[in-house]
Amino acid sequence: MLRRHALMGLAGAALAFGFCGSALAEDTVKIGLILPMTGPSASTGREIEAAVKLYMQQNGDKVAGKKIEVITRDDTGQADITKRLAQELVVNDKVAVIAGFGLTPLALAAGPIATQAKVPAVIMAAGTSMIVDQSPFFVRTSFTLPQNTTPMAEWAAKNGIKKVVTLVSDYGPGIDAEKAFKDKFTADGGQVLDSLRAPLRNPEFAPFLQKAKDLKPDALFLFVPSGFGASLMKQVSERQFKEAGIQVIGTGDVLDDEQLNGMGDVVLGMITSMNYSAAHDSPENKKYVADFEKANPNMRPNFMSVGGYDGIGLIYKALEKTGGDTTGTKLLDAMKGLSWTSPRGPISIDPDTRDIVQNVYIRKAEKKDGQIYNIEFATIPNVKDPLHGKK
Ligand code: DHB
Repeated sequence: MLRRHALMGLAGAALAFGFCGSALAEDTVKIGLILPMTGPSASTGREIEAAVKLYMQQNGDKVAGKKIEVITRDDTGQADITKRLAQELVVNDKVAVIAGFGLTPLALAAGPIATQAKVPAVIMAAGTSMIVDQSPFFVRTSFTLPQNTTPMAEWAAKNGIKKVVTLVSDYGPGIDAEKAFKDKFTADGGQVLDSLRAPLRNPEFAPFLQKAKDLKPDALFLFVPSGFGASLMKQVSERQFKEAGIQVIGTGDVLDDEQLNGMGDVVLGMITSMNYSAAHDSPENKKYVADFEKANPNMRPNFMSVGGYDGIGLIYKALEKTGGDTTGTKLLDAMKGLSWTSPRGPISIDPDTRDIVQNVYIRKAEKKDGQIYNIEFATIPNVKDPLHGKK
């Protein structure tokens, strides 16, 4: 995944040429939004696109006298397509910012383009810690897995759980979650009996779940990316963990608001940790959820949506600060250190790491007004990515 994607010489030259023109002279600021609109992560694309549209409805399409134009492209969840689209958006469309990136490999594919063209790349979805280190032009408004996982491990150790089996999707964010959980849980006196990894694509969870159950842990810790939770929880339900006295915990990616209500009673009582719940109790979030659901009937905003909402918000705020100047380095500098109140709570962009600092919440899945929600009951304020925090 860390493989360098060398730019083709021709495209590299075109990138350099494209940025000789004055960025200030243009009246329109273009933003390239690259998302998986089809394929297994299409819900991430739909949620982020809807949130970006909502932000623009609420705030208008003019910033610092410039018209904002968002160009959305579907990478279908394939990294080679993300890379090609990023190149085309930068070279042909002359976008000032690229954004989106529904999965870690997709963000990584765009990094070299951002670096080469000196165009900020706003990560609205992907959550592997090390992504932001791969280009000085990366800025993240989503979350990191170590950020969301460490509070879960701490909660487990404090709440009578002594032995855990972890089961994660076998790629960047899953491996980050596995490690973050184990590091914190063992530091707090717990024991990880086994660390299981299921393939990301077309996962067959049954053999892993059976293995986890046979080890008789106090709890099973789960991570799968957005959009994969419902099929996992169906198989968890079939294996009867609750009945065997094994608690099921995880990151909130598993109980994604987009799918949660359809998951059924198996999830009731399940504890997860995450940076966002549609049930977050704040005036900003009440308005966000109401406006989102009004604009998108039958859709509930999830944690991916706020990554998109705050990502476009970050671009607007940076443009305001530069007075509409779209020079990449100026926009990037303007983004560093910005802070505001999001629907998820207070957030800021760490000026040193370009990563998001935010509250992480411990939640319990409960029925409210006939629907299932993750109800927050504890807050860990202003959490930095723990891996970066150690630098
Ligand atoms: C990633 C994708 C997700 O959908 C998610 O919930 C967490 C992480 C990722 O690929 O980085």
